[in-house]
Parts: sequence; structure tokens; C-alpha cells
Amino acid sequence: MTKQRLSKVIAMAGIASRRAAEQLIFDGAATVNGKKEIVPQTMVDPLVDIIEVGGKRLTSQPKKVYYALNKPVGYHCTNAAEFRYRAIDLIKVSPGIRLFTVGRLDKDTSGLLILTNDGHFANRVMHPSGGIKKEYIAKVDQEVTHDHLVTLSEGCVVEGAHVRPQRVSKIRRSTLRIVVQEGRRHEVREMLAAAGLNVIELKRVKVGDLALGTIPVGEFRTLTATEIARMFPPQEEDSEGSSRKPRRKMLPRSQVKKRSDG
Ligand code: URA
Repeated sequence: MTKQRLSKVIAMAGIASRRAAEQLIFDGAATVNGKKEIVPQTMVDPLVDIIEVGGKRLTSQPKKVYYALNKPVGYHCTNAAEFRYRAIDLIKVSPGIRLFTVGRLDKDTSGLLILTNDGHFANRVMHPSGGIKKEYIAKVDQEVTHDHLVTLSEGCVVEGAHVRPQRVSKIRRSTLRIVVQEGRRHEVREMLAAAGLNVIELKRVKVGDLALGTIPVGEFRTLTATEIARMFPPQEEDSEGSSRKPRRKMLPRSQVKKRSDG
């Protein structure tokens, strides 16, 4: 690990907020390698230096936390302070733990949202090479026809790339189950719009093997160690440890149309 400011390291250890950590340092409560340190900007390496606050040694890394939230409509997936309704504020964590959302759901989309302070985990879940599928239930403004399903399965261009669902099925008159893998912004809404369907309600119900289940709207639960480990499909690494891209699922020939973004 590279050097960081002493105040940041203390805050990241979950002992105090950044500001309170600075005050602790000014007050003479912190030592680095046995010497009192009263300058919050002092650069330290938490993996090498012995840092103590109030005589207690810091563990080098903040505790990693992982939550599944049932995001309500109206909440933003952002850490920017100017937003009044943020998904991160629905989970109370210890000071010094900086939560962020794993990917984004639109403000008007509800459902399963993972929040963590583990950047490595978040990147692996979000990156398309991880092959993690996301499942959505979409209520639309009209009866879904066979033609809608065909158009949906062809996909559309989102953010300059042609995306198509991994799976799409009609589960009720005006309700669809859509599985995607790409993770582009508004992709499900864009695909539905391209098929001539307006979204009444969009809810994410699964990320990989993790299901929303019975978490009430606006509430959350901690992920178990097994759920965290099972997030990554086993085919991601072969026996030599090198990563492989998951195979793309082929659509039936009758449903394949030339890409329009070429
Ligand atoms: N696709 C969308 O269109 N919206 C979301 O919130 C997530 C995926």
C-alpha cells in the first residue's frame, strides 16, 4: 500500500470521521512507530508503520462491508453530497467506512442494489468480463406481443454499443423478465423503448446468484461470506489462474439480425 495521510488512515480504520481523526491527532492521541504525531498530513504506510490511537494499534485495513439494499424509487446511486435522496444514506455504517453502490440503478428503478466499501469487489461485479447477469422485472404500458419479444431479443444501441438481453420472457400480460449482462446506463429502458414499450415500473430482482428475496423496500441486509464468494462465476478462472471471458449465449438464427451500429 502507498503512503497516505495519517488522518485518512485513522478515519478509514473506522475509528472516527476524517475531521474527528484530525482532532485526535492535534490532541496528541496518535503515535507513529512509537512517536507522538500531531500533524494530520503526515504520510504513513498503514502496512508498514505502527499506528496507535489512544494506545490502541490500528488494523491496517478498514473492515470490508457488503450489503443488499432494496432501493426505493426516487433514490440516487451517488456519493455526491448535493443529492437529497441517496441510496448510501439508507444504510448506517460506522464513521470512517465509506460506502458506495456497486453500479447504478436509475432514480426511477427499484430493487436489488449492492453496497460496499470494497472497491476491488465492486469492480469485479461491474466489469462485463465478470459475466455477472442482472435480472429485471419490467411492467410496461401495453400487452406484450410476440413481435415485441422478437424486437427486444435483437437489442439496440446503448452508449454507442449494440446490446441485447441474455434472456427475455413474458411473465404476465404486460410484465417482462429481462436478463442482461452488459451494465450500460439505462440499457433495459432503452431496449424496451426500442421495442415500442414504455416502462411503468422497473425493478432489479437478481445480481448473479443473489436474489432480492423478501427484503422490504428501503431496507437492507448484510451479505453472507458465501454470497460474496458466489458472486463470481467459477468459469472466470481456469486451472492456470488466467481469466477467460464467459461465452456469449447465441440466439436462435431466426432472431438474429445484423447489427445496426457497425
Ligand atoms: N437498466 C435501466 O434502464 N435502468 C436501470 O436502472 C438499470 C438497468
